[in-house]
Amino acid sequence: MSFSYFDVQSIFAETEREQKGDFTECLETYETTGFSHRWIQPPVACYFVTTMDKKGNVNCTPVSMGTAFQSAPPNMRWCYAFAMNNERDGRKNLDETGECVISYYPYDLLRESEIVGLPLPKGISEIDVAGLTPLPSKKVKPCGIAECVSNLEAKVIDSICVDGSTVYIFEIVEVSVRSEYIERDKVTPHEPGLGAAGLLFEVSIKGEPPRLNYMRLDTQIHPTPDDIGCDARWIGTFEEWMDSEQRRGKITADVEREILKLNEQWKANPDPEVNRGVKEQLTKHLINIVRA
Ligand SMILES: Cc1cc2nc3c(=O)[nH]c(=O)nc-3n(C[C@H](O)[C@H](O)[C@H](O)COP(=O)(O)O)c2cc1C
Repeated sequence: MSFSYFDVQSIFAETEREQKGDFTECLETYETTGFSHRWIQPPVACYFVTTMDKKGNVNCTPVSMGTAFQSAPPNMRWCYAFAMNNERDGRKNLDETGECVISYYPYDLLRESEIVGLPLPKGISEIDVAGLTPLPSKKVKPCGIAECVSNLEAKVIDSICVDGSTVYIFEIVEVSVRSEYIERDKVTPHEPGLGAAGLLFEVSIKGEPPRLNYMRLDTQIHPTPDDIGCDARWIGTFEEWMDSEQRRGKITADVEREILKLNEQWKANPDPEVNRGVKEQLTKHLINIVRA
């Protein structure tokens, strides 16, 4: 197995010195440095972020550097995080009013996505220029977009500056989903939701002239194996997992007891040197289970 290693700190420091560009323009290529940042950033489903300034002017920015996540109990809030260059009008509005709507767009809006990404004067609405339809929101001031698959109404709960960009963290407070997509999902095996909604994934900025290139998702479903892990829940606890393996017949009740005991001994002292024997035995049992 051979690997190519890239000192990305110096590659991007050099880029910064030479180009001093907007970060969407200074994308390193194989021709210039032998590296492509696409080995860091995988294809990402893109979305529009609609914001409003204090005066009520609407702005809409296509964004791809972010993702949804769920907070753990006690609140289990659905959250979102993305980064915007500090020069973006959308970023200025987020600092002013702290609200946005994140709207996932389907393949049909490929042309509109380019229009929304154009450098329109601040205060002129990309939604109007692109001919999209505002969808009133329930809990935030900015609107959603009726042609989009789903609209996530979001409020800023935190932000952090990283160089000339700001990473925002939002709580999703309301979601609207086009009814036709919901009805189709309910009768689609494995209910893939946005996975089967024909979203566009940013893959590269290449070509003459340079353009952002999208890919679409292969909608075939590939379930992960059900002969490993907890037999009742998705992940479950370690004890539930071992119970399940015993029910499957991969381990006897005695071996299960031994594994649980080793786990207690390991948790009491997770020092790889001092408790090396316990670690090795526990690892061996788990290897036997997952490779059985
Ligand atoms: C598909 C797509 C994804 C983008 N992702 C981001 C992003 O994640 N962060 C960012 O700052 N700019 C991103 N951009 C660039 C901005 O959308 C673009 O510069 C836009 O003109 C900024 O608009 P605004 O100044 O009205 O906010 C993206 C553009 C496109 C087309």
